[in-house]
Amino acid sequence: STNITFTMIKPDAVADGHIGAILGKISGAGFKIKALKLTQLTVADAQKFYEVHAERPFYGELVDFMSSGPIVAAVLEGENAVESFRSLIGATNPAEAAEGTIRKMFAKSIGENAVHGSDSDENAQIEAAFHFAGKEIF
Ligand code: CMP
Repeated sequence: STNITFTMIKPDAVADGHIGAILGKISGAGFKIKALKLTQLTVADAQKFYEVHAERPFYGELVDFMSSGPIVAAVLEGENAVESFRSLIGATNPAEAAEGTIRKMFAKSIGENAVHGSDSDENAQIEAAFHFAGKEIF
């Protein structure tokens, strides 16, 4: 069925000038953009967004990285959006990402991995609401 996912183009990919190419891949794959903005997470925003990873050894690094520069946040709609977007972006570790995926093309490492994609329908709703007011989602 048609539903939504939430994505961020992470600070590495924004700094490297890949916003246009990544949005092109997303549109080319048939996703409809329902919300879109260039923004920057504060340290507190990043801590809250990644709260589920608070006990992981990489949490501090993740929070520092995600608040280090501008990101693009977006809500995407498509058939089976969460799962189909995760196939488009590829594995978290770019070394394991399939050929042609966004992470294979643009990610540098497991941390600086170019894009985020929600891991469930429930988290897609929570993450979209974290970044966008209702009237910003079309
Ligand atoms: P994402 O799936 O967007 O959300 C959790 C993030 O944690 C993940 O992307 C990675 O960028 C990051 N991450 C996962 N494992 C590691 C790791 N071992 N070291 C640094 N960052 C990691």
